[in-house]
Amino acid sequence: MPQFNDTELTEAVIRSFDEAPDARAKFLLRELVKSLHDYVRKTDLTFPEWEYAIDFLTRTGQKCTPTRQEFILLSDVLGVSMLVDAVNHRERDGATETTVLGPFYVGEHKAMPHGADISPRLDGEPMFVQSRVTDLAGKPLANVPVDVWHADNEGFYDSQKSDYEAHGPSSRARFITDADGRFFFRTILPCSYPIPTDGPVGEMILQTRRHPMRPAHVHFLVDAPGHEPLITHVFIDGDKYLDSDVVFGVKNELIATIEKRTDAQMPDGKPAGRPWHLMTYEFHMKPGKGEAPKPMGVKEKEDA
Ligand code: BEZ
Ligand code: FE
Repeated sequence: MPQFNDTELTEAVIRSFDEAPDARAKFLLRELVKSLHDYVRKTDLTFPEWEYAIDFLTRTGQKCTPTRQEFILLSDVLGVSMLVDAVNHRERDGATETTVLGPFYVGEHKAMPHGADISPRLDGEPMFVQSRVTDLAGKPLANVPVDVWHADNEGFYDSQKSDYEAHGPSSRARFITDADGRFFFRTILPCSYPIPTDGPVGEMILQTRRHPMRPAHVHFLVDAPGHEPLITHVFIDGDKYLDSDVVFGVKNELIATIEKRTDAQMPDGKPAGRPWHLMTYEFHMKPGKGEAPKPMGVKEKEDA
């Protein structure tokens, strides 16, 4: 009957994966065991602490629904999502920086004409977004689908609201770049917002005296053929949470100065009606392959 001390036990568990047919899975599992065992040894983890951790992870799973992914939120607030992003995007070669996808990419991105108002039912200060997609040499990329989504002026995404089924998407759309790689649309200025705090992850954030806020931003997913899909945000300069994003997602290059404008017309020549904001940002795509992430949530739920 084998019997192990605490170090021999780690070796035995690592050896137990010797016959795993998939070399990468074998490597990942062995490294996971090493890190977990090191953690237990380093901390002298007690039984009540281990039970707490099991209960926390159980509640995290129980909080998940087709439109709510509490495990991704956990990964986000522990910096794991941004670390996975970092190790997979070490060399940008001038390409636009990436950041977290976040849990609100739920699909329903309907293609809209350039200039469309993607937030027609929302109060808030008007914002015109003008953008362009190019390769690393500055050549415009035409016919590229760009998904955009952002929170409203109270900090909620459409999919978080009870009227989502009835009203459908809001502040969420797809634009296809024109021959010059451009796209533009109207919306409202988003504000900073808290990540959901009604689950175990939010509980941990509040109990550890962290704040739950993300600085105001607009999400973009640019999926140009022959290029790596670009998952990113454009952050609004001046936001007080830029230095302390709860998910560690801010990169300097992604912060845009939003101009306050009083011109009577917006850049597409249509009347503004009242003071407005202008966001201008260019996306530079890195050559390569890769699959854009599948939206989580509403679509899958319907298809299931
Ligand atoms: C978001 O930006 O939508 C987001 C990202 C990570 C966690 C929660 C929200
Ligand atoms: Fe967001």
